[in-house]
Amino acid sequence: MTVKERLISNAALVEEALRKYTEKDDPDFHEELEAERYSLLSKAKRIRPTLVLEFCRLFGGESRAALPFAAAVEMVHTYSLIHDDLPCMDNDDLRRGRPTCHKAFDEATALLAGDGLLTRAFETVAGNQWVSATVRCEAVLALSQAAGSFGMIGGQVMDLAGEGKSLTLESLLKLHSRKTGDLIAVSAKLGCLAAGLSHDDAKTQKAIEYARHIGLAFQIVDDVLDVTSDAKTLGKTVGSDVKSQKTTFLTFYDVDNAMAYAADLTARAKEALSNVKDNTFFLELADHLLNRKN
Ligand code: IPE
Ligand code: IPE
Ligand code: MG
Ligand code: MG
Ligand code: MG
Repeated sequence: MTVKERLISNAALVEEALRKYTEKDDPDFHEELEAERYSLLSKAKRIRPTLVLEFCRLFGGESRAALPFAAAVEMVHTYSLIHDDLPCMDNDDLRRGRPTCHKAFDEATALLAGDGLLTRAFETVAGNQWVSATVRCEAVLALSQAAGSFGMIGGQVMDLAGEGKSLTLESLLKLHSRKTGDLIAVSAKLGCLAAGLSHDDAKTQKAIEYARHIGLAFQIVDDVLDVTSDAKTLGKTVGSDVKSQKTTFLTFYDVDNAMAYAADLTARAKEALSNVKDNTFFLELADHLLNRKN
């Protein structure tokens, strides 16, 4: 299978799980649940859950053990996008090729849909029946650290505080590593945990090193696409960073040099897994993400 086919096949698996986890309904909560599903099941790349599934398989685990963790990471990611698009944050109207959650519903519903997804993510991790209680606990700890105040939320705080100011490159690297890198890194880690590896296993550490590098490259490419792409291709608002006076990679580098930086990180990601058997998918994925158009 090509990397594209494998991404599609993983996305299908994850989407089926996401559908299952959100299928229960109750007429009293119908609108909030509809909003959760609307954002969660829109067309998306599913990169983070793919990392969970693929690292689990790479290290000999079963997909069914990784699937609840994969779904949970996608729930956290989707919640972060719903809140990121709100008028009090990036104030964007288009996401995943459709009106943003607060445009399709309303702000309060979008806020609650995000809260619902975040909470549901931890319910899903804690309820993973295919791994031991110890692994479930480790996964809850890892995901909460990555998503929390010193992880993704910390990155979002830095991102908003930096609007209209020029951050240093060092601060921007820290911001990107938190707001985007931490969730991508924990995806790799959750895959390893699902395969029965410990946090400090050398294989887990290599997986995290790979993910850290593709994570930073991913956000650099995101910054570039915000100025070079169009809304139809990207499926989300373009020009958002300039409009909000964000400090991004393009504050420091032109497009070519930013992409060269991302290419260097991609090479370092591949290097991290160079001695791992059956690494082809990961090497191709790193290049695929560097060259992505959306
Ligand atoms: C968008 O993430 C937000 C960033 C961290 C750059 P993705 O580019 O993975 O968005 P989806 O999940 O495919 O919509
Ligand atoms: C969003 O970063 C990161 C999180 C949601 C945590 P961006 O604000 O750059 O993402 P896009 O460009 O809106 O997808
Ligand atoms: Mg943002
Ligand atoms: Mg945004
Ligand atoms: Mg962006």
